[in-house]
Amino acid sequence: MAHNIAVIGGDGIGPDVTAEAIKVVRAAGVDITTTEFDLGGQRYLRDGEILSDATLDELRAFDCILLGAVGTPDVPPGVIERGLLLKMRFDLDLYINQRPFVGTAPGGTEPHDFVVIRENTEGPYVGEGGSLRTGTPHEVATQGSYNTRMGVERCVRYAFELAQSRPRKHLTLVHKTNVLQFAGGLWERTFNEVAVEFPEVDTAYNHVDAACIFFVQDPHRYDVIVTDNLFGDILTDLGGAVSGGIGLASSANLNPTRTAPSMFEPVHGSAPDIVGQNKANPTAAILSAALMLDFLREGAAAERIRAACDDPVTGSTTDVGDAIAARVRS
Ligand code: IPM
Ligand code: MN
Repeated sequence: MAHNIAVIGGDGIGPDVTAEAIKVVRAAGVDITTTEFDLGGQRYLRDGEILSDATLDELRAFDCILLGAVGTPDVPPGVIERGLLLKMRFDLDLYINQRPFVGTAPGGTEPHDFVVIRENTEGPYVGEGGSLRTGTPHEVATQGSYNTRMGVERCVRYAFELAQSRPRKHLTLVHKTNVLQFAGGLWERTFNEVAVEFPEVDTAYNHVDAACIFFVQDPHRYDVIVTDNLFGDILTDLGGAVSGGIGLASSANLNPTRTAPSMFEPVHGSAPDIVGQNKANPTAAILSAALMLDFLREGAAAERIRAACDDPVTGSTTDVGDAIAARVRS
């Protein structure tokens, strides 16, 4: 049966890279039907819709959501991010953000291969807080960070299961327990308790500042990393930078319980400066589509797509999509 995919091309280069990703999925012989949703900054400017509850309910009917990029310079920062991206993560309970990194760090010789599992629905992203006396010299701003036992545990358990399924079976917790004693304490205790259920998985702990050094100087130590929402956001940009660049960085926003569709998106943004020039690299979108196929239990097709992306292709957006599609077919 065909997989039913909702496509949100979004703004800037988003629609172009998403079109190449769909082309490659079809070339891999996977049967999909696609339905386009016109959402993002441009849509917001036209009629004020960011993501209504009615549209969100329509999205719920799909097997997966493939997203290009959202955001345009004409809309103040945060509006579309919070109203569309974060709304999907929260309301569809996409509690895992999975970001694989395969590549060779600048100056390195051996390729690394690790995955970051970022908690995707808690921490400071919940948007709790406020400001008083705003704009005056006496301004006070608070930004709450929420960590629940349930939220931490389901994320940590997912990471252990993933580590268990990989050859090296190694999992590192990244946090900042030396300063964030309450949140760090919850993460560390939960991690150690769940570890007992996975005796085959080797574990380690790194403070997030030290992890930044290791990402650059010794990424080979990592297999699977689990961390909170904000540390994961920052670390995964660094992960992209040491793994061939943000043009290759893919991501999956997963609801592993499958009670709502999961969402797949390249880590890069809408790049308004190069829109319409047919020169955005579609590889990150194509690799995100491969993660979607993993989740749809089309693992063989996903592997073929990843293999086709191994050797870099140069050329325009469509040239790269065509070349990868041709490799996948052959
Ligand atoms: C990401 C992005 C988002 C985040 C922004 C656009 C809200 O940076 O997916 O990493 O911070 O999670
Ligand atoms: Mn980010």
